Amino acid sequence: MITTQTIDKSLPKKEIYQLLLEQITSITSDEEDLVANLSNICSILKYEMNWFWVGFYHVKQNELVLGTFQGPVACTRIKKGKGVCGIAWEKNETVVVPNVDLFEGHIACSSSTKSEIVLPLRNNKNECTGVLDIDSEYLSTFDKEDKVGLELIVNYINQLF
Ligand code: SME
Repeated sequence: MITTQTIDKSLPKKEIYQLLLEQITSITSDEEDLVANLSNICSILKYEMNWFWVGFYHVKQNELVLGTFQGPVACTRIKKGKGVCGIAWEKNETVVVPNVDLFEGHIACSSSTKSEIVLPLRNNKNECTGVLDIDSEYLSTFDKEDKVGLELIVNYINQLF
């Protein structure tokens, strides 16, 4: 039986991310199927944190192609250097966008998205192989602590591939 707990959002962000990582580790550690694991990770992040959209894009034939996600339908292909996802891929670094309307080239899959964070997935050669994209309906949702916490989670996710 798989159970998840509801995380107390009044905790310091560092603790919230630690609890999220514990839930993710617990739900994925006995399962070897990548799609099953990435699906549950999207679900944990979206429903614990109440974010608008959480999903993965994977590099395939020099494009980012939509993978597992939770949320409304999204654009399926993104070119290198395009949108927040394409820039995170090109730079191979996390991109935090406090206000998507002020980010030149932002790709609006939904007008509800107001801020977002995109983190690169990396293989063991440190090459970017995809991204984790998280969108919020509120401005300035993600700060340095979210970046640090989510980068720890992505380090764990990288080992699942
Ligand atoms: N906003 C992203 C596109 C993906 S969707 O938000 C799901 C971007 O600018 O790359």
